[in-house]
Order: sequence, then structure tokens, then C-alpha cells
Amino acid sequence: MSIRNFCLAAVCSLIFAASAEGGEGIISLQYPPGDGTIMEYGLLGISLSVPEGSADEIMLKAGKGNEAERIPVEGEFVCFTVSLEPGINNIEITALKEKGAVDRVVLTVFRRSELISRYRVPPQNFKKVYFHAGERTECTRCHALKPGVFDRKPISPATFSAEKFDSGTVIAATSTCYSCHKALAAYPYVHGPASVWSCLSCHDPESEPVYSVRKPDSAVCYGCHVEQKNRWLSMKYHHGPVTSGRCTICHSPHASENPFNLFKPTWQLCVNCHPEKGTGKHVIAESSSSEGHPTRNRKDPVRTGRDLTCASCHNPHASDSPHLWAFRVQDAIQLCRKCHYDK
Ligand code: HEC
Ligand code: HEC
Ligand code: HEC
Ligand code: HEC
Ligand code: HEC
Ligand code: HEC
Ligand code: HEC
Ligand code: HEC
Repeated sequence: MSIRNFCLAAVCSLIFAASAEGGEGIISLQYPPGDGTIMEYGLLGISLSVPEGSADEIMLKAGKGNEAERIPVEGEFVCFTVSLEPGINNIEITALKEKGAVDRVVLTVFRRSELISRYRVPPQNFKKVYFHAGERTECTRCHALKPGVFDRKPISPATFSAEKFDSGTVIAATSTCYSCHKALAAYPYVHGPASVWSCLSCHDPESEPVYSVRKPDSAVCYGCHVEQKNRWLSMKYHHGPVTSGRCTICHSPHASENPFNLFKPTWQLCVNCHPEKGTGKHVIAESSSSEGHPTRNRKDPVRTGRDLTCASCHNPHASDSPHLWAFRVQDAIQLCRKCHYDK
């Protein structure tokens, strides 16, 4: 199979550039079709084929300073997932035969990030490529692609803990999405519906493009988080990104390294958009002291067992108090007293 068979008009020239570098033409990228793909989150699934017996290992280099990873070639197809950094990623794929390189392909992929202003808008030449827009008969030889009932099993935050089952084998056997997207949930904090692979509770197979998600995010999130919706919308003040309904600026809908599936730990997340507040000087602006108030690396005196962060004093979503204070108080002095009883 030639890579040209999968050439989409818009990225043709880029594919030729990538394959020209390849030389021997042993690696046929099945997906993605070539350079210039835009991704939202940190993972990209890749599938390639090599002629039988032409290579015994694939060496993979992605990300800055990462160790090369070696994947044994066991048949004609090799499928794997790479992690993406925000911004431009160069993914170097080398086919090895008896430890010698026989072919190399370099793929350039852009990971967009709402949180980092220079990566908010993709550079020219980058396009969103939709995998599920095609028939993908080259994949259905081994993978099922038609979604089943399990992919839409109903999930409610109110009853989730009681119903939750975590049998990996059941999920692997019943989720259509698992075989290709399993890396998506392989993080310490996994969002309820993603943890049980109820992917279609957000991704609509009837939508155009297939599996696209309704916008703004709150239209999707509030569908299940009714309690939060009612509580927050009834409050007087709302946080900018919540007002515009962009929940996934801060929360991964799937999984992440951080509690509440946040893209960054809370303090880093807040300072990302409010860089001048990290010093804590704003808390005691009128005090003569040049040292600001601590905003991290201390224990939270009210929320026992948790660390002090911006969220100790501010609610990230909504509040009835000024400045989104996390307590029902009307002025700063009342706020101080919530933690400093002797004042
Ligand atoms: C010859 C059989 C075969 C074909 C054809 C095939 N795959 Fe795979 N793929 C596999 C197997 C086997 C796995 C491992 C499944 C598992 O562990 O559950 C896999 C896993 C994957 C993964 C997950 C890799 C990981 O480790 O995270 C992705 C992504 C993937 N395939 C994409 C594709 C795409 C896209 C196509 C079509 C272009 C395709 N595959 C065609 C056999 C195949
Ligand atoms: C044959 C492997 C395979 C299966 C099975 C599969 N996907 Fe994908 N999917 C991919 C690849 C490859 C991509 C593009 C690269 C990536 O996101 O890793 C993708 C991309 C997507 C996207 C982004 C939009 C797009 O079309 O590129 C969504 C959403 C998605 N998949 C949802 C699902 C859901 C939901 C299921 C189960 C019903 C599923 N996928 C099953 C391989 C697969
Ligand atoms: C709570 C809702 C929700 C659930 C559940 C969910 N997703 Fe998503 N997913 C999203 C949103 C929102 C996006 C971002 C889409 C956008 O903004 O274009 C997304 C994007 C994706 C993408 C594209 C990633 C990229 O980098 O472009 C893939 C692939 C995907 N989802 C697969 C899955 C799979 C597989 C499951 C099941 C385990 C799943 N999703 C469950 C909401 C969800
Ligand atoms: C299909 C229903 C469903 C949708 C849609 C949904 N969630 Fe959830 N969410 C859940 C369930 C179930 C839990 C797990 C509750 C538990 O662990 O008891 C959860 C938990 C969470 C948590 C962690 C709460 C905690 O206390 O640890 C966050 C944060 C969250 N969701 C955010 C979102 C965001 C953001 C969206 C929209 C992108 C969204 N959810 C859409 C069902 C949903
Ligand atoms: C500015 C970043 C940000 C945005 C935007 C955001 N969240 Fe959160 N969210 C957080 C943080 C931080 C926490 C953890 C707060 C804490 O430490 O108590 C959290 C906690 C949560 C929780 C669990 C705790 C609770 O209060 O129930 C849910 C559910 C949740 N968010 C859903 C959403 C939904 C739905 C949206 C969109 C309407 C949204 N979030 C928008 C930052 C954000
Ligand atoms: C994606 C960017 C973004 C992130 C992340 C973010 N904010 Fe904001 N924040 C805004 C915007 C936009 C506004 C509204 C503009 C304004 O009033 O200055 C705002 C306003 C505020 C306000 C002022 C509200 C008022 O009425 O005085 C507070 C307090 C605040 N944010 C706290 C936080 C905290 C705490 C976090 C972390 C949980 C956080 N922000 C994370 C963008 C962000
Ligand atoms: C100990 C409590 C406390 C902590 C911790 C705290 N703040 Fe504040 N924050 C305040 C008080 C008090 C005000 C009101 C200051 C004023 O009156 O100008 C405020 C106001 C703000 C405002 C609105 C300022 C304006 O100009 O309207 C933002 C934005 C903000 N904080 C962000 C943050 C961020 C980001 C963090 C974490 C790095 C943080 N805060 C940590 C107490 C706190
Ligand atoms: C969410 C709880 C919380 C709130 C609200 C709060 N603080 Fe603090 N404050 C702390 C913590 C924790 C420390 C660090 C104590 C330590 O290092 O042992 C601290 C330390 C201080 C210090 C340094 C002296 C000391 O005891 O170490 C001052 C001064 C201070 N706070 C003033 C204020 C003022 C003024 C306000 C109201 C604008 C305020 N705080 C609101 C939690 C809070």
C-alpha cells in the first residue's frame, strides 16, 4: 500500500515532503495521513504498516529530550499512541531491521491549547483532520468501528459511586472505543463517564463531523451536573470562563494528572491567567508588609487535609460574595476571620 492512497487533497504536498525524507518508502503511514494535524488534547493514535519482513522494530521519538521508545514489529501493522506537548510536536518514526535504520518518517502535529495564548491559534498549514469522517476499511480488518449500546451507557453523578464497576476486562470487551483510545483514560484522575467508557454520553455519532461535542461545553456538562448548574446559575457572581461556558479550559473531559481532572494543579491553573496574583500581595494590599500573603505550600486551615491554593479563598465557578470569595462574606475583614480566628 502506498502512502499516496491515503493522501487527502489538502495535505498532499506535506505528505510528499514527509515521505521524501523517508527514502526507502518502507513505512506506510495509515493514520494520520501526514503532517499538519491539529489535536486538542495530549494524545495521538498512529497506525502504520510495513511490508512483511522488512523491519523488526519501530523506534519512536516524540517530545523534548524523551528517550526513544522501541516497539517490536509483529506483523504488517503497528499501532501505538504518542503523547503531545502543547504547540508543535515533531514525531520521528524510524523502521529498524537488525538494528539498522531502513526508513524514517517525521510527522509534525500541532496541539492547540486554550491556556497558553501563543498556542491558541494553530499556525498556517495546520488543519483539523477527522479520523471518523472516513470509512477506514484499512482499520476495520482488525478493529470494530461501529459504536454499540455500551458506549452510551447512562451515567449520573448522583448514583455513580454506587453503580461504578471497574472491571478492566469487561470494558476492554464491550467498549468499541477502547482498543484504539485506551491511553485516554490511563491517568491517575479519570472523569466518571470516561472511566466506564461511556464515550457516547458526550460524543454524538449522529453529529457532523461524527462524534463532535456540543458547544459551549456547559451545554454538555450541565446535562449531568444538574446540581452544580442549579447552584452556580443561582449565584450573583460568575467567573469569566464559566460565564462563557468553557469548562474544558480547566477540566479535561477525559482524565488528567490532577484532582478534578484539571489540566494543571489549581494554583498553576489560576496563575496561568492571573500571573500577577501568584505573589499573594493582592490579599493584603493595604498592609505595609512587602511580603504577600501565602497562596500555596501551606495547609488550608478550613478545608482539612487539603493544601492552601487560590481556591481556598476563591470559588473557581461562582459565588454570592464579591471577588468570587469562597465564603459567604461581604468584606475582606470577614474573610480573614474565616481562617484567622484571633483577628
Ligand atoms: C492487523 C490488525 C490491525 C489493523 C489492520 C489495525 N490495527 Fe490498530 N491495533 C491492532 C491491535 C492488535 C492493537 C492492540 C489492541 C489492544 O491492545 O487492545 C491495536 C491498537 C491500536 C491503537 C492503540 C495503540 C495504543 O497502544 O495505544 C490505535 C490508536 C490503533 N490501533 C489505530 C489503528 C488505526 C487508525 C488503524 C487503521 C488505519 C488500525 N489501528 C489498523 C491491530 C490492528
Ligand atoms: C480503529 C481505531 C479507532 C476506534 C475503534 C475508535 N477510534 Fe476514535 N479515533 C481514532 C484515531 C486514530 C483518531 C485520530 C487521532 C487520535 O485522536 O488519536 C480518532 C479520533 C477520534 C475523535 C476526534 C475526532 C476525529 O474524528 O478525529 C473522537 C471524538 C473519537 N475518536 C471518538 C471515538 C469514539 C467515541 C469511539 C468509540 C465509539 C472511537 N473513537 C473508536 C481511532 C479509533
Ligand atoms: C464529558 C464529556 C466527554 C466524555 C464522556 C468523553 N469525551 Fe472525548 N471529548 C470531549 C470534549 C469536550 C472534547 C473536545 C472536543 C472539541 O472541543 O473539539 C473531546 C475530544 C475527544 C477527542 C479528540 C482529542 C483531540 O486531541 O483532538 C477524542 C479522541 C475523544 N474525545 C475520545 C473520547 C473517548 C474514546 C471517550 C470515552 C472514553 C470520550 N472521548 C469521552 C468530551 C467528552
Ligand atoms: C454523562 C454524564 C456526565 C457528563 C456529561 C459530565 N460529567 Fe462530570 N461527572 C460525571 C460523573 C458520573 C462523575 C463522578 C462522580 C463521582 O465520582 O461520584 C463526574 C465527576 C466530575 C468531576 C469531579 C468531581 C469531584 O468531586 O471529584 C468534575 C470536575 C467533572 N465531572 C466535570 C465535568 C465537566 C467539565 C463536564 C463537561 C465537559 C462534565 N463533567 C460532564 C458525569 C458526567
Ligand atoms: C477557571 C477554571 C475552571 C473552569 C472554567 C471550570 N472549573 Fe470546575 N473546578 C475548577 C477547580 C480549580 C476545581 C477544584 C476546586 C477546589 O479545589 O475546591 C473545580 C471543581 C469542579 C467540580 C467538583 C467540585 C464541585 O464544586 O462540585 C465540578 C463538578 C466542576 N468543577 C465542574 C465544572 C463545570 C461543569 C464547569 C463549566 C460550567 C467548570 N467546572 C468550569 C476549575 C474550573
Ligand atoms: C482561562 C483563563 C482563566 C483561568 C484559568 C482563571 N481565570 Fe479567573 N478570570 C478570568 C477572566 C477572563 C476573568 C474576568 C475578567 C476580569 O474580571 O478581570 C477572571 C476573573 C477572576 C476573578 C475576579 C472576579 C471579580 O469579580 O472580581 C477572580 C477572583 C478570579 N478570576 C479567580 C481565579 C481563580 C481562583 C482561578 C483558578 C481556580 C482562576 N481565576 C483561573 C480568566 C481566568
Ligand atoms: C487568603 C485568601 C486569598 C488567596 C489565597 C487568594 N486570594 Fe485572590 N483575593 C483575595 C482578596 C481578599 C481579594 C480582594 C482584594 C481587593 O480588595 O482588591 C482578592 C481578589 C482577587 C482577584 C480580583 C482582583 C481584582 O483586581 O478585581 C483575583 C483575580 C484574584 N484574587 C486571584 C487570585 C489568584 C489567582 C490566587 C492564587 C494565586 C488568589 N487570588 C489567592 C484573597 C485571596
Ligand atoms: C483560607 C484561609 C485564609 C484566609 C481567608 C486568610 N488567610 Fe491569612 N493565612 C492563611 C495561612 C494558611 C497562612 C500561613 C500560616 C502559616 O504559615 O503557618 C496565613 C498567613 C497570614 C499572615 C502572615 C502571618 C502569619 O500568621 O503567618 C498574615 C499577615 C495574614 N495571613 C493575613 C490575612 C489577612 C489580612 C486576610 C484577609 C484579607 C487573610 N489572612 C485571610 C490562611 C488564610
